[in-house]
Amino acid sequence: MKVVAVRNFEEMSQLAAAMISHQVKEKPNSVLGLATGGTVVGTYKELIKDHEQNKTSYENIHTVNLDEYLGIDRNHPNSYYHFMMENLFSHININQENTHIPNGLATNYEEESQKYEQVISDLGGVDLQLLGIGVNGHIGFNEPGTPFDSATHVVELEESTRQANKRFFNSIEEVPTHAVTMGIATIMKSNKILLLVSGKTKAEILEKVINEGITETIPATVLKNHPDVTIIADEEALSLVDDEKKREFDRDKEEFTRTYLLSN
Ligand code: PGA
Repeated sequence: MKVVAVRNFEEMSQLAAAMISHQVKEKPNSVLGLATGGTVVGTYKELIKDHEQNKTSYENIHTVNLDEYLGIDRNHPNSYYHFMMENLFSHININQENTHIPNGLATNYEEESQKYEQVISDLGGVDLQLLGIGVNGHIGFNEPGTPFDSATHVVELEESTRQANKRFFNSIEEVPTHAVTMGIATIMKSNKILLLVSGKTKAEILEKVINEGITETIPATVLKNHPDVTIIADEEALSLVDDEKKREFDRDKEEFTRTYLLSN
């Protein structure tokens, strides 16, 4: 895992967008794995800006999203379909038919999960997967205890996850109890993974991901088994990691800058 330490949310978003935009330019028919949530909003804003200013084209890009709530219509303001339309898809030249998000209203979730795996494999797999992290260490909606060999499946959301996402709803009662998510094995098949971490609320879990061993009780630790993971984390998120460890990250930032910023 490479760790790129940045000052704040803005710098994290700029660097993340630079890496995604680099991928899109290098391989114009890339498959991007996308995420939702507060952490990635700034990255999408930067991608929209880059699309407008530099004409980066998404004409032949395909996307697969990590997850979707169960039981809410895709046009509901809190669906992840709606989130993606609002925050990215309606602002770039992507073909809607090339965007994929699990169906939160499927009648047979077993079948829906298998279909989603098939969509990803028919596309040839994910080139670059964007991830946020939950305060409990989840990636996608893979809550603690999810087997590392899981494919796309339905999950019951932990109370901490529903509480963390309550800010997007009118009340806790409105936050769905279940979701469908790419599994850990699905995420791990991606060629490259980019994990974004910002803010004090993520400091404790990020410290654990960096310093602790690989365990299913902290789903994000599985990323240590992946050969190409970049974490971009801001000062607040890294505030519980000691200085000696942070100095080890300097080389990762230099390499990131050379690859994605200077070459752009
Ligand atoms: P957040 O969610 O970006 O809204 O903090 C991240 C996640 O739960 O994966």
